[in-house]
Amino acid sequence: MSGGPAPLSARDFERFRRLAYAYCGLNLEPGKESLVAARLSKVMGQLDIASFGQYYEHVVADPSSGALIEMIDRLTTNHTSFFREPRHFDFLRSTVLPQLAGRARIDLWSAACSSGEEPYSFVIAILEELGGNAPELQLLASDISTRMLRAAAGGVYDQSRLRDLPLALQRRYFLKGHGGSEGLYRVKPAVRARVRFVRVNLKESFPAAVGIYPLILCRNVMIYFDPPTQQALIERLYQRLEPGGYLLIGHAESLNTIAHPFEYVRPATYRKPGRLWNGR
Ligand SMILES: C[S@@+](CC[C@H](N)C(=O)[O-])C[C@H]1O[C@@H](n2cnc3c(N)ncnc32)[C@H](O)[C@@H]1O
Repeated sequence: MSGGPAPLSARDFERFRRLAYAYCGLNLEPGKESLVAARLSKVMGQLDIASFGQYYEHVVADPSSGALIEMIDRLTTNHTSFFREPRHFDFLRSTVLPQLAGRARIDLWSAACSSGEEPYSFVIAILEELGGNAPELQLLASDISTRMLRAAAGGVYDQSRLRDLPLALQRRYFLKGHGGSEGLYRVKPAVRARVRFVRVNLKESFPAAVGIYPLILCRNVMIYFDPPTQQALIERLYQRLEPGGYLLIGHAESLNTIAHPFEYVRPATYRKPGRLWNGR
């Protein structure tokens, strides 16, 4: 007995593919069958469900859609890291923050925050740059995955996740030895207090918690969407930027195949035409 995932028929793959696409724009292309099978088998094992057909019925029969959220949680890729794509942090320091210099308060949005490394990195970068002069800072961090949001709000990371952070930053912004375990670090309360976590499905219209921002991070999530979903999302993100505001996407992504009104600034960096209000 191999203990591997149960076989996933072409018909079942197609049903999961359609459901994931309809619900959140996730583009499960042919070739992803074994990945889908492996990921769904885990949750099926926990539920004691033996076949993909039965699991599909279980997901669509749940009127609260808790089972659907759980399914999407399992299918999405949550890879992230602290200070991922450092050129965006250089851009924040060199260009964005000077333009917001006179504001008493800065609000930002991390639209696919995964396990929290991205929003915490931006808060840390801003505190480092502005130091004692840091204005009131609030970052909205959202994701579709409730599992990721729980982890992100906890702000606890294994030492290996902090590997690339300079020791000085680890000491200033993390508490070592969480829960009595030497290998666990927790983001300090002063940083966590600046981040608010909310569940947002980027395929749907945005909930009331989402405001208008001078900077939106939407990095490494559109890559999982097909062009029509990307197009619709970019149009809605545009509405949520202040004039002159910046949209950062992943460096493996681009808006080249999309019709959009943004100005290209540099790789993975776009600006809504206009001028940011500098607070003065
Ligand atoms: C690869 S991670 C990117 C994390 C971070 N932005 C970064 O660049 O390191 C992609 C995240 O997008 C989330 N995601 C996928 N589909 C989504 C959707 N329809 N709405 C909101 N978030 C979604 C996943 O749950 C996952 O946490």
